Order: sequence, then C-alpha cells, then structure tokens
Amino acid sequence: MKLLKGLVLLLFAAVLAVPAITRSVQGQAATEAPAGFDNLTNGATDQATFDANKDLFEEVEQIADGLGPVYNAQSCRECHQNPVTGAISQITELRAGHFDGVNFIDQAGGSLNNDRAISAAIQERIPGGNEVRTFRTSLNLTGDGFVEAVDSNTLVAISNAQPAAQRGTVIQVPVTEAPGQNRVGRFGWKNQQASLLSFSADAYVNEMGITSNLQPTENTSLGNSVAAFDTVPDPEDAGNVDVSAFAGFMRALKAPPRGPVNASVTTGSGLFDQIGCNICHVRNITTAPAGTVINGGAFTVPAALGNKIIHPFGDFLLHNVGTGDGIVQNGGQGTRNQLRTPPLWGMRTRDRLMHDGETVNRNEAILRHDGQANAIIANYNALSAAQKTNVIDFLNSL
Ligand code: HEC
Ligand code: HEC
Repeated sequence: MKLLKGLVLLLFAAVLAVPAITRSVQGQAATEAPAGFDNLTNGATDQATFDANKDLFEEVEQIADGLGPVYNAQSCRECHQNPVTGAISQITELRAGHFDGVNFIDQAGGSLNNDRAISAAIQERIPGGNEVRTFRTSLNLTGDGFVEAVDSNTLVAISNAQPAAQRGTVIQVPVTEAPGQNRVGRFGWKNQQASLLSFSADAYVNEMGITSNLQPTENTSLGNSVAAFDTVPDPEDAGNVDVSAFAGFMRALKAPPRGPVNASVTTGSGLFDQIGCNICHVRNITTAPAGTVINGGAFTVPAALGNKIIHPFGDFLLHNVGTGDGIVQNGGQGTRNQLRTPPLWGMRTRDRLMHDGETVNRNEAILRHDGQANAIIANYNALSAAQKTNVIDFLNSL
C-alpha cells in the first residue's frame, strides 16, 4: 500500500514535470524555432523565393523608382544589415513634436522627420516649438516571422501574469491589409504595428518615400505638399509587389542564434531570472499552431512558423521604465512615455543601446532603467561585482 501510494505520487510528479510550454493546444509537442545568421530560409518559403525576396529587400531605389521626395535611406538593407541582411544597424531616426501639458502633438506632417530629400528645397528641418525630440535605433528583424505568429492572447496572458508593478500595457493597432481590423501591436519601439506586411508598407513610404496600394499617400515636407517634385505616379509599388516580398523575406528569417556559452554565461543566465529581469525580458514564448488565421484574417500561420518555441527575451508589451521619449504613435496619449521591452535576442550585434542608442555600455543600460523596473534594478545593484559581470556576459551571449 505504502509502495503503491509512493508510485502514484511519483506518477503524479512525472505528469507535472512535463513542461507546459512544450505542449500546444492541439497536444502536439512544440519544437524549437530554427536559429542562424546564415542567409537560409526558416522554411516559410523555399530558398529560391527567400533569395529573390532578399534581393528586393537589398535593392537600392532611385528617383525613377519613386524614391522620396522626402526619405531616410535608399534600401531596407541600409538600416537592417548587421551581421546579415534583415538584422540590425547603428542607424537612427529622428522624431519630434510638442507637449502642451496634456497631449503630445506631432510636428507638422508627422512626428517622423525625414533626414534626406531628393531636392534641398524640401529638406525637413525641425521647426521651433517642437521641444519633444528623440532618436530611435533600427531594430533587428531576424525571428520576426515567429513574433508575428504569436497569438494576441498569448501576449495578453503574459501581461496578466506580470506583477502589478511591472505589468506591461497591451495596445490594439490597425492591420493595414485588413481594413477595420485591429490586432495586438508587437512591432516597433511603440508597438505601433502588428503585421509584417503593414510594417513593410509603412517603412516603404516613411523610410524610402515609395508608395504602395497599402500606403498610397506620399509624405509631406513639414506639412507642405511635395507633389511638384514627385515624377512617379502613385502607387509607386503598384500591386504591393515589393512590400509583399519584404514581408515574405522577414517571415522566412531564422531567429537570432545564441553566441558561445561558458560557465559565466550560465551563472549570469540564472541570475537574470533570479533577480526578475525575465519578468519583462521573457525567455520562452510559443507561437500559434499552424493554420491559425491572424492579422485580421489576412494571413494564415504556415507550418514552418506554427507551434515554435522562441527565446526573444522580450514580452512585446509597453512599459514605462523612466526613459520614455514623450512620443505618441498608435497607442494613445497614455503611452507617451512607454516603450516596448526590446527583445534581447541578437543583442550581441548591437553596440548603441536603448531606444535612442545613447547608451553604449551594458551596465549603464541596466542602470538607466527606472520606473516599472525599479525593484529589479535594486536587485541588480545588490549583486556582487562578479555576479554583475556574469549578467553582462550572459547578455553578450544573446
Ligand atoms: C533609415 C533606416 C531604415 C530603413 C531604410 C528601414 N528601416 Fe526598418 N526600422 C528602422 C528603425 C529606426 C526601426 C524602429 C522604428 C521605431 O519603432 O521607431 C525599424 C523597425 C522596423 C521593423 C519592426 C521590427 C521589430 O521587430 O519591431 C520592421 C518590420 C522594419 N523596420 C522593416 C523594414 C522594411 C521592410 C524596410 C524597407 C521597406 C525598412 N524597415 C527600412 C530603420 C529603417
Ligand atoms: C519593467 C520591465 C523591465 C524590467 C524588469 C527590465 N527591463 Fe530591460 N528594458 C525594458 C524596456 C522597456 C527597455 C527599453 C528602454 C529604452 O529603450 O529606453 C529595456 C531595455 C533593456 C536593455 C537595452 C536593450 C537594447 O537592445 O537596447 C537591456 C540590455 C536590458 N533592458 C536589460 C535588462 C536587465 C539585465 C534587467 C534586469 C536587471 C532588465 N532589463 C529589467 C524593460 C524592462
């Protein structure tokens, strides 16, 4: 009897020990998302399609292609390149506006200031009265196909499970390719987009000045029309050919691979969880099962992206950690000083840290957190010098 009881207990313990994260709702075991900076497809498209889409992502646009009239760069790759096409770069963008004591108001023509123009006559220069200004660093896109495939309810559940003091804000944002439909935002420093196709069309017009059916209207120069300089009829990317290729390329990118792991990295990894960094920099997320319809009905999760375990070290939620840049995008005035927890995967390829790139040292990036991260930073400060080195070594392995 005693033995039987022991056996039952043992069996019970064995059932509990099956990690919930590796079981999908359909009962099939989730598998690790493929990782690599290797220019190879994750399987969402075949390799030939990946290569063709990558060529378009790398293409240098000229005025005859519709570049500008105001723009930031000539190619997606110019800002998403290190160490492979689709990853990151040191390039920043400039945003500006005015705070009237209650609301943030965009500078004329929108908070994004285009840093280049095809004619000096329409160069954007921030006018006086726009005292709210920020730089925004480029972001890594490798692994973003998996992020898009995360069910919105999974992000809501992460927020609900966070302690009240650290709880992240969920925002719903419009899906451009599904008019009238919203989805939980997860892309950009302000979670301003939810779909990679939406982001592609947005980036094409805002970074390169190339309109598409999804974003058919050219930017202005500080609110003034630039039509006199625009020689190519809109939409310049007729039929959304290029923006669909960009989305296809990003969906087929593998997740960032881990760097070398030594004893200090392993110790730092444990400390990272122990002191609570993982409350916001979430370690494991499983994507929705293949066949799940997302993006307001516009996209179905393919087998290569479905039911995959990713390790983004981010929660894709907005937080106020005392560094807020005062800019409002798709989240309403309440998100003025909130920023998305940046996923730390691939951060060893990044030397300018935080949203503005103004912190160039890991320890200083940690110490710059305040607000919602206060208690956790206090835990970090209580670590020994050797333990802090372990945490930094861990960050440098991501
Ligand atoms: C001038 C530099 C620049 C160019 C060119 C550029 N990007 Fe970006 N990209 C950025 C910056 C900066 C961000 C972060 C923007 C923010 O949230 O403020 C970003 C963010 C993104 C994101 C969100 C990533 C995430 O995980 O949150 C996607 C997707 C993206 N870019 C796709 C593209 C595509 C597609 C193109 C080409 C059409 C492109 N970008 C061109 C600088 C650039
Ligand atoms: C309350 C949520 C929260 C907690 C807790 C938290 N972070 Fe962050 N972390 C953020 C946010 C939000 C940012 C972006 C801030 C910015 O860009 O201004 C960030 C940025 C970072 C960055 C810069 C990443 C980059 O790519 O620029 C690092 C490194 C980092 N955190 C490490 C840590 C470590 C280590 C801990 C634990 C000691 C920690 N964080 C705890 C939310 C959090």
